[in-house]
Amino acid sequence: MADCTVVVLISGSGSNLQALIDDIQAGADSSKSSPARIGAVISNRADAYGLERAQDAGIATQVLDHKQFDGREAFDAALVEAIDAFNPQLVVLAGFMRILSPAFVRHYAGRLLNIHPSLLPKYKGLHTHQRALEAGDHEHGCSVHFVTEELDGGPLVVQAVIPVQSDDSPTSLAQRVHQQEHRIYPLAVRWFAEGRLRLDAQGAMLDEQALPSSGQIIRN
Ligand code: GAR
Repeated sequence: MADCTVVVLISGSGSNLQALIDDIQAGADSSKSSPARIGAVISNRADAYGLERAQDAGIATQVLDHKQFDGREAFDAALVEAIDAFNPQLVVLAGFMRILSPAFVRHYAGRLLNIHPSLLPKYKGLHTHQRALEAGDHEHGCSVHFVTEELDGGPLVVQAVIPVQSDDSPTSLAQRVHQQEHRIYPLAVRWFAEGRLRLDAQGAMLDEQALPSSGQIIRN
């Protein structure tokens, strides 16, 4: 199977990036090798710890500081140029804390994935764990979706659901959701890299079957 070059965009710790690196590495050491290959990691923050993770794994890194640009369109245009220099088949947002312009999203239509720490369409935006607790939800989780122009609103690929415990705090909940993120993001990236996952006019398709509007659900 041909390699699928992936560019990963980060802003912070990069634990999801690490999960992707580990999955590809573990696959290379076993019979479950992944066609995904991370061509570069790009951060909008020079202090993002994920840059160190990438360097430790021998992956090219680049910093593009949004504060150095005159507005969102100018930054996004430079970002497109930086990404496209690596010729990726897939662009993965892994804790990239920037709202992307419509032109950026359109440029990568069907090859841009994001992970979000809630069971979308619930709790788009920030403070998702606190909002789930305040709402008294019994279940919470995370979602991988194709990115469209609607913020946190594109077709869902996979969601991991966990029970909320009566003594959960936003921190404890975030920790358990994070563990699930590290499970479902490598899964979705593999599906894409293997040519099993694609976006078509009706939505996300896995193995040529339309996924349900919730994406594939993994319950814990
Ligand atoms: C993750 O929890 C991810 O879901 C969230 O940022 C965190 C990044 O963690 N993304 C968003 O909230 C995007 N709307 P990481 O840097 O350790 O992967």
